[in-house]
Amino acid sequence: MAARTLACVAILALALAVDASNICASLDASLTVGDRRTNAGSARLRVGAFNARWLFDGVSDVSASPYANGEANAAREHGRMVNEVIRAIDADVVVLTETETCETLDWAREGTPNVARALVKGTDTATQQQIGILSKISFVEEPWRREDRADYDAATSACGYSGSKNSGVSKHAVARFKVGARTVALIGAHLKANPTQSSSCAQREAQAEVLRSIARERFEAGDAVIVAGDLNDYSDLHVDAGNNSPTSRVLRMLRDLNNDGVDELQEVGELVAVSDRYTWRSGSSKAKLDYILVSRSDFDLVSASIQHDLVNASVSDHFPLLAIVDVLTTRDTSRLLASTANATSASATLYIAALTAVLTIYLVK
Ligand SMILES: *[C@@H]1O[C@H](CO)[C@@H](O)[C@H](O)[C@H]1NC(C)=O
Repeated sequence: MAARTLACVAILALALAVDASNICASLDASLTVGDRRTNAGSARLRVGAFNARWLFDGVSDVSASPYANGEANAAREHGRMVNEVIRAIDADVVVLTETETCETLDWAREGTPNVARALVKGTDTATQQQIGILSKISFVEEPWRREDRADYDAATSACGYSGSKNSGVSKHAVARFKVGARTVALIGAHLKANPTQSSSCAQREAQAEVLRSIARERFEAGDAVIVAGDLNDYSDLHVDAGNNSPTSRVLRMLRDLNNDGVDELQEVGELVAVSDRYTWRSGSSKAKLDYILVSRSDFDLVSASIQHDLVNASVSDHFPLLAIVDVLTTRDTSRLLASTANATSASATLYIAALTAVLTIYLVK
């Protein structure tokens, strides 16, 4: 009895200590162990990404917050609506962007006692927005972030930027959990806004470089890797409903982790019909700014959808992206070889075309 009380006190003290620092992860005893999905142990995983648009509490909010003038009731009502959306998508793991604190993140998981949460405090002082992660599966370690930075200038960037700076990823968090015998590394991120504005675009490429090195490290260590969140950029590979094309290489960088010309990660949005392929709307403008990328040799991509019906303008200007994937019991690297073969045959075709052209010129002469 005494030992148990002591253990409880120790857990409580640990939880308080963690909450008091820069991390809140669910360390409550009921959430520390295991897989609390209704299909516990299944390889099938529902993954979500949703920008909750200022899931703040209206108490001493930063001036950019819509609740900055102390609209705590409106903020609480917004939290209730976000919770409705989260419960409706019923994902096993969700990356929630634009949350403020552990308490506002708790609003999002209200009424779901099987859901643990993690927030690793970031460094965006201007918005004070944070990444929140909700999960029905326990974390195998305390979620974390990296303070790494990458340079960006005219040489590194394809964005038409001429300055010289460096950037970290102010809003990101990494949570790892087990699906069967495999460890999944979920990297949640919210990148710099303004898809085609040149300095934002160049900064976002530097941020992608930092995220890419985290993803590559986890991938090389054998984790099944998911990158999810609001990347504030367009895909060069899968055009969206607004027919937007990127000026940056952000998505290309995040797919090809080691820059070898073969994509290790795949955008789940490719399974969504082009007319539905938008996660953000403003008036008649539509864009896909939110992404879930999964490592191709570790996951079967079963389906993906963007839940436009669940969100109205009073909840968010973004819509939840949902992917259903099966985690493979072992990594299948042949999937990467298959795409190398494609790349090789594509370059062989180019080579033959060039050779034919040279030969034609020679013969005509
Ligand atoms: C908007 O969606 C939220 C969340 O589902 C809901 O609570 C709210 O009633 C909806 N508002 C309107 C005006 O339909």
